[in-house]
Amino acid sequence: MIAATAADSPSLAALHAAAFPPAEAWGADAMALMLAMPGAFGLFEPGAGLVLARAVAGEAEILTLAVTPAARRQGLGAALLDAASEAAAQCGATAMFLEVAAGNAAALGLYRAAGFVEVGRRRRYYADGADALVLRRDIGA
Ligand SMILES: CC(C)(COP(=O)(O)OP(=O)(O)OC[C@H]1O[C@@H](n2cnc3c(N)ncnc32)[C@H](O)[C@@H]1OP(=O)(O)O)[C@@H](O)C(=O)NCCC(=O)NCCS
Repeated sequence: MIAATAADSPSLAALHAAAFPPAEAWGADAMALMLAMPGAFGLFEPGAGLVLARAVAGEAEILTLAVTPAARRQGLGAALLDAASEAAAQCGATAMFLEVAAGNAAALGLYRAAGFVEVGRRRRYYADGADALVLRRDIGA
């Protein structure tokens, strides 16, 4: 797994575009902006998957997580999530949060298997009218 820099933004965008529908894909500029936020970092497996996260004031957040269709169900999503949690814990975070569409069965399966629990729901959060679930888990020691 590789730690992403701004120079990797086009590769990250290509991975995102392979994993999400066109309307939801983030371009290279968006990736660079995300990575420039305070506490933000990215990890990726070239050609296969990426995670962007942020750790600020003891709390961490998954900004995006994606695995290309050909690389799914081989444990990469879980490995990216674990690596991001470990990196966030090293930055002092003790809890990890994320938002996921209520109907995203694959992501919910992954997050629940990783120990995340639902702590909130944002009604009609996404452009298509879907609710977002807010999930949380403890990280670090
Ligand atoms: C969600 C996603 C990242 C999962 O990546 P992945 O590499 O396939 O996940 P893993 O192989 O590590 O799966 C780990 C566990 O998650 C669960 N899981 C993964 N995909 C699943 C699916 N389609 N249905 C049900 N459970 C699933 C399983 O418990 C799985 O363990 P198992 O394979 O031993 O049964 C991937 O499907 C993806 O990129 N989807 C599109 C983008 C997206 O929705 N990102 C999340 C936005 S919040």
